[in-house]
Amino acid sequence: MINNHVQEIAAADCHQPPERYIRQEDKEYANFTTNGCEFSPAEIPVIDVSLLPSSPSELHNLKSAVTTWGCFQAINYGIESSFLEKVREIGKLFFGLPADEKKKYLREEDDVDGYGNDMVLSDDQILDWNDRLYLTIVPKHQRKIQFWPQNPTHFREVLDEFSSKVELIFEAVLKALARSLNLDEDCFLNQYATSEKIGARYNYYPPCPRSEKVLGVKPHADSSAITLLLQDEEVEGLQVLKDDRWFGVPIVPDALTINVGDQIEIMSNGIFKSPVHRVVVDSEKERMTLAVFCPVQSNQVIGPVEGLVTDERPRLYKNVTYSLDFFLKIFQQGRRPIDACKI
Ligand code: OGA
Ligand code: NI
Repeated sequence: MINNHVQEIAAADCHQPPERYIRQEDKEYANFTTNGCEFSPAEIPVIDVSLLPSSPSELHNLKSAVTTWGCFQAINYGIESSFLEKVREIGKLFFGLPADEKKKYLREEDDVDGYGNDMVLSDDQILDWNDRLYLTIVPKHQRKIQFWPQNPTHFREVLDEFSSKVELIFEAVLKALARSLNLDEDCFLNQYATSEKIGARYNYYPPCPRSEKVLGVKPHADSSAITLLLQDEEVEGLQVLKDDRWFGVPIVPDALTINVGDQIEIMSNGIFKSPVHRVVVDSEKERMTLAVFCPVQSNQVIGPVEGLVTDERPRLYKNVTYSLDFFLKIFQQGRRPIDACKI
């Protein structure tokens, strides 16, 4: 079943969000902090990606960010500020279209590509306060172009150009992560299957007057190898869990917030942390982000890379097939999928 769009619910004056969106904190992962309002800003390191190939100190900063926070604020990664503006603009224009126009791109029930929201897998599932437009961007022949909006007219062209830049960033970051551990720079990339799909997801979070009652996205870690997040330029909402506390991720102008996902945590034998994160909603302002999920391999086995399993650091994870089906099944049970991969 595909449920209603949150944008329509929010537009119809929603002083009491529908029952299915109301948080049940006792069912949320990391529910020990029930006070959702109390959180400090995260001091997430800013990393200049252009320096990573040449600067040992920047490489060290990267390693330190990803072993503690699991994420960093990337700058100078090869995309002009004016182009980022266009990438945001096409998303905003799309969500601003009349409902009927957007519904031309409605996703099918059992697929991820298209305009929609949570896959509803059970009757008692609590729903996220957001609408999404999910599009496979790489490899090109796997795109489902019928879901790529033709309105605004430049949508396809802009997202296509953005996609080629994403591939370069993905490669640069995976190489740098490997080098930061004194490994061969291709050791993570070697597990990348070029048939693997990279997906871009525009997330649209309408305001909710009872914002404390809902979550934009429930606590989760990403199943990807890395995720690139272009935040809203004004409205914050992303929080990361560290040392059993929630921290708000600040907006750094033009930065991409890059976090590692479960696949890198497994391949790095737990040295890099795939951070648990969630999204809170603003009571007055809408928020839009673009998340790009870059996996290495979801159909064949991945495991800790050679060189990271030693006598001092025994193997922490089994060799596993980290597929989306596996991930969703365990996530819906309120558990962390990666925990099921631990030895
Ligand atoms: C996600 C996600 C964060 C955000 O889409 O997996 O964590 O701020 N998004 O939109
Ligand atoms: Ni996420």
